[in-house]
Amino acid sequence: MEFSNRLLKRLSVAYNVVVLTGAGVSAASGVPTFRGEGGLWKKFRPQELANFEAFSRNPELVWEWYDWRRKLIKNVRPNLAHYALVDLEKRFHDFFLITQNVDNLHQKAGSQKVIELHGNIMRNKCANCGEPYTGEISLKGGIPSCKKCNGLIRPDVVWFGEMLPKHEILKAQEVSMGCEVFFSIGTSSLVEPAASLPFMAKGNGAYVVEINTDTTPLTDAADELLAGPADKILPDLIISLEKYSQNL
Ligand code: OAD
Repeated sequence: MEFSNRLLKRLSVAYNVVVLTGAGVSAASGVPTFRGEGGLWKKFRPQELANFEAFSRNPELVWEWYDWRRKLIKNVRPNLAHYALVDLEKRFHDFFLITQNVDNLHQKAGSQKVIELHGNIMRNKCANCGEPYTGEISLKGGIPSCKKCNGLIRPDVVWFGEMLPKHEILKAQEVSMGCEVFFSIGTSSLVEPAASLPFMAKGNGAYVVEINTDTTPLTDAADELLAGPADKILPDLIISLEKYSQNL
């Protein structure tokens, strides 16, 4: 893929870069996205699985679903998009990767400064007091309970209607407002408050680049849309950036 001189020049002098990722980044690893063809929300109803009322009503069903996703995720590997983002991180003094993904694949690939907005499916916590739970979860033995308050243990992910972890969203907003280049990659830009981050960046003068196989509510406001799969575009971008900086 050819990249604009504007983008390569911006990146070659940038100090602060922020990347926001969504499910599209993990698509090439075999993790289903939420919306669109083959998306999880086409087959499952979020209101029955991903909210606190559903868990209170039927914790076994909710756990079964998360256990299925957890097993699927345990068996997949990061793809070229995740690895290109590890490379990108090393090129800038200040770099943050904000992710809505709960699949741990950025960390598995080696990204360092990751802000997890929606939690992490590999972690568990008490549904009552929030205390982290580090024991094994085996559904055969029933859902374990918290040693402190006896509440049921749940996956440490954000459900519909829940607040995002405070420190993470505040940090994400701060770095988005302070960056020079902002990438929005593989996200439908539909779910708040993550969807507002590129607009905050843009409002503070950042150059906003979207990488997506489709258009989204962000596309018209972005400075560039790099249309196509992230696992193809990001490695190409690293190569072009390398060539550009050698010719400076
Ligand atoms: P979505 O499933 O809503 O959107 C995935 C986006 O990735 C779409 O815009 C696709 O066009 C794009 N896409 C698909 N394959 C791609 C590829 N190979 N390369 C680049 N782009 C690709 O996923 P998110 O935006 O991450 O929240 O969803 C946001 C939140 O909604 C999730 O974190 C989850 C969900 O409900 C919670 O569970 C709290």
